[in-house]
Amino acid sequence: MIDNYGRNINYFRISVTDRCNLRCRYCMPEEGIDKIGHEDILRLEDFARIVKAATQAGIRKVRLTGGEPLVRKNIVQLVNYIAEIPMIDDIAVTTNGILFPVMAKQLKAAGLNRINFSLDSLNEDKFRYITRHDGLGKVKTAIFKALELGLNPVKINTVIIRGFNDDEIIDFVRLTHDYPLHIRFIEFMPIGDLLFWDKGRLMDVKAIKDIAEQHFALKAVSNIQGNGPAIYYKTEGGKGSIGFISPMSNHFCAQCNRIRMTADGMLRGCLYDKKETDLKPALSNPDDQELLRLILQTIKAKPARHLMNDGWGEENQRKMYQIGG
Ligand code: 5AD
Ligand code: SF4
Repeated sequence: MIDNYGRNINYFRISVTDRCNLRCRYCMPEEGIDKIGHEDILRLEDFARIVKAATQAGIRKVRLTGGEPLVRKNIVQLVNYIAEIPMIDDIAVTTNGILFPVMAKQLKAAGLNRINFSLDSLNEDKFRYITRHDGLGKVKTAIFKALELGLNPVKINTVIIRGFNDDEIIDFVRLTHDYPLHIRFIEFMPIGDLLFWDKGRLMDVKAIKDIAEQHFALKAVSNIQGNGPAIYYKTEGGKGSIGFISPMSNHFCAQCNRIRMTADGMLRGCLYDKKETDLKPALSNPDDQELLRLILQTIKAKPARHLMNDGWGEENQRKMYQIGG
């Protein structure tokens, strides 16, 4: 459906759990996480029913996020439920990759089309530092497994944090030169665990691109399949691509095509906007009319843009792992 600002809203991002098997410093504190109660988390059937209702509002693409979506029990079944909804033509997952190697085949067979891996370092020690866990080997295995299975495109999301991984920009670009992988460098946003966020750690995409261009000649391309707001480039003769996502330095809200939902059924028009609509009560209605009404209402109320640069840390704000990135 076309919203009040002329945007075609066809993309639905669903956080299927707020749990995660990593503890990335910018996302979650190590302990004392404010979890959604088990009784409040929607059942797989509820997610599927909401997606089906959302297709009547024009939704055609779904992305499952978290927390970490692959820690959700029976996630393969959910992919299958969504794949069976006739009007959905694209199912993607954003994962940290740890559990992907053991589930890859089943996910693909269930109907998964595309996958994004969140990976901020190619160095074992740095991976352990930022995620507070071991597992780089598993993530690398996961990425190559996804290529082997023919998921296309295989994307890697990398949050660039000054002083942490800005010295790896070239290594990530090289990966896209050697393999058909699509890296997206993301500006560090002041959401999530704010104790780790610091203005000095933010590196804007222009600075990231300047570093990449010191070693590689990049040319702009625009044919990478996806729904994302990145601008893409390629190295000379490279197999993959490089994208830059600039939520901070140049917000892309005018092209935003998405709505989001948390694992407890709260629908949001914008990652940043505090406004949420609870879909749970509508689930007790036997027909989907009330669900559809609430979805349409959220799309209509979708704000023109986020105001993230003015600060995020107000009270009662959900964390990134609860909204799903
Ligand atoms: N800034 C930028 N990106 C973030 N992500 C999580 N928190 C932040 C943040 N503060 C990213 C994750 C993942 C995606 C879903 O969102 O790294 O790739
Ligand atoms: Fe987990 Fe992703 Fe948050 Fe890291 S950024 S703790 S992988 S949800």
